[in-house]
Amino acid sequence: MEIVKVDSYEEVSQKAAESVAGLLHRKQDAVIGLATGSTPEGMYARLVRMYRENEIDFSSVSTFNLDEYLGLSRDHPQSYHTYMHRHFFDHVNVDPERINIPRCGDEPPELVCRDYEKKLKDAGGLDLQILGIGTNGHVGFNEPAAYLYTDTHVVDLAEETIEANSRFFKSREEVPGKAVTMGVGSIMGAARIVLLASGRSKAKAIRDMCSGKITTFVPASLLQLHKDVTIIADREAARLLP
Ligand code: F6R
Repeated sequence: MEIVKVDSYEEVSQKAAESVAGLLHRKQDAVIGLATGSTPEGMYARLVRMYRENEIDFSSVSTFNLDEYLGLSRDHPQSYHTYMHRHFFDHVNVDPERINIPRCGDEPPELVCRDYEKKLKDAGGLDLQILGIGTNGHVGFNEPAAYLYTDTHVVDLAEETIEANSRFFKSREEVPGKAVTMGVGSIMGAARIVLLASGRSKAKAIRDMCSGKITTFVPASLLQLHKDVTIIADREAARLLP
């Protein structure tokens, strides 16, 4: 694993945007796995700027989002569908037909998961997966547990995740308890993984994921088995690393 320590959130965002742009310069029709949450917001803002300045073109890109809440409509202000359109898709030229976010409407979730996994395989797998990390070491919504799922699946969100994400909702009770997430196998199948971390609250998770030990109770620790992972962490997030 390569660990890139930078001074600030702005630098995390800039380096992350550069890794996406670098891929697109090599491969216009790249397949990119995307994350939501606070951490990648700065990266999306920079990618939008690069697009407006004609530095990158998303017209042939395919995207797969990591996860979506179950029980929120697509147009709910806090759905990841809404998030992605607000921060990214509405401002760049990604072909809507090539945008993939788990559909969490009325369809049976098992069907949604199976279909998502198939689409991912049909697309030829991910060239790049962008990840954030939960304070509990989750990636996507693969929460710490005795076992993890390889493929896209329905998950019960951990209490820490509900607590952490309640900042986006009016109350904790409004945070959905379940989500659909890509599994660790779907994530590990990406040719390259770039994980972004910013702030003190991520320091322990970053230390644990780089510890040289692998445990399903720190799902991000599995990434140590991947041959091309870059962690971009700011000073606060990296502060417990040797
Ligand atoms: C989001 C996702 C999550 C977040 C993680 C960190 O699609 O899959 O794993 O990356 O919860 O969230 P933030 O960036 O809000 O701290």
